[in-house]
Amino acid sequence: MARSSNLVVSTATALLLLLSTYSCRAATSSSKNPTAVVLPVRKDGATLQYLTGFRQRTPQTPVTAVLDLGGATLWVDCDPGSYASSSYAHVPCASKPCRLARTGTAACATSCVGAPSPGCLNDTCSGFPENTVTRVATGGNLITDVLSVPTTFRPMPGPLATAPAFLFACGAKFLTEGVFSTMHCI
Ligand SMILES: *[C@@H]1O[C@H](CO)[C@@H](O)[C@H](O)[C@H]1NC(C)=O
Repeated sequence: MARSSNLVVSTATALLLLLSTYSCRAATSSSKNPTAVVLPVRKDGATLQYLTGFRQRTPQTPVTAVLDLGGATLWVDCDPGSYASSSYAHVPCASKPCRLARTGTAACATSCVGAPSPGCLNDTCSGFPENTVTRVATGGNLITDVLSVPTTFRPMPGPLATAPAFLFACGAKFLTEGVFSTMHCI
């Protein structure tokens, strides 16, 4: 399977976000509601990093993720060429998700000159994605996009549960250095 993206996930944060996002969706969905979702985890023998995966964006793209218990933010490489989606959206500075996600002195990106893209948006909440392998960190937009993971419905793996607007931080290609997929992609 092609690995088109790299990201680092904080299990604590990401799993809590996943669960809360899905319970929100379950409350409004009239069909079979997922009660639990699964993030399959495997260990890469070469890097000793723990890997998981999910589907994200439109069109839906398989994403391989590095799980890091020491990380604080789910982030992906949003550089042009790495991230393509028609369903991403900015997180407005004055929104509740922005207030909840921002820590300490996180700034807000009020304007960007150029064509709109995940990395160039007006009135967008800022995050601080960090590569916890190399300890390199950078500022980046917080955005939302469609994200899907398998449910526990049987037979396993169950059908995908989808969060239409899952929040994460935009990192950049340079930030993925030292992370599993950059070492192993073509
Ligand atoms: C941000 O707003 C300014 C002023 O309206 C506009 O010129 C610019 O193109 C916008 N940037 C994006 C990325 O939409």
